[in-house]
Amino acid sequence: MVTRTSRREFLVTAWRWGFAAVGVAGVWTSWELLRPLLGDAGTKVRGVAPQLVPTEGVLEVAAARGYLTKVGDEVVALSWRCPHLGCKVPFCESSGQFECPCHGSVFNRVGEYRAGPSPRGMDRYAYEISDGIVVLDTGSVSLGAAPGSETINEPVRGPSCLDETES
Ligand code: FES
Repeated sequence: MVTRTSRREFLVTAWRWGFAAVGVAGVWTSWELLRPLLGDAGTKVRGVAPQLVPTEGVLEVAAARGYLTKVGDEVVALSWRCPHLGCKVPFCESSGQFECPCHGSVFNRVGEYRAGPSPRGMDRYAYEISDGIVVLDTGSVSLGAAPGSETINEPVRGPSCLDETES
């Protein structure tokens, strides 16, 4: 009798710990998924002087979770969050385009849609030039352009970084 009660209590306790562990894992996973979406919204982040923003590549501004690049003299400030499901989209130096490692969306150097499941191009931050520095406003985001917009004429430079990750 005593043994049966103890076993029942043990099983109930084990189940409770099991559910608690699953709950903690769920919260942890949700946080990891949502964190890129939440970003540092609302903060203003100082980047670099406009003349230091590259015209043939991108400059990562980690504190803003984004990138700076240029079209002619115009600075473009991009969010690194993929419009598909929120993964960080890295810039692939060999291909000269952004390539999302999660599901393969591809964007040109200024974040315009080229391929994959993303519904649009990469979102853009507003920015201002303050004391000679580009200041990104992560609280002011405009949605990326619809597929079909390609304002720069930059062909793919070379091998995709996605090919490397698959092999
Ligand atoms: S999150 Fe980037 S393609 Fe799905």
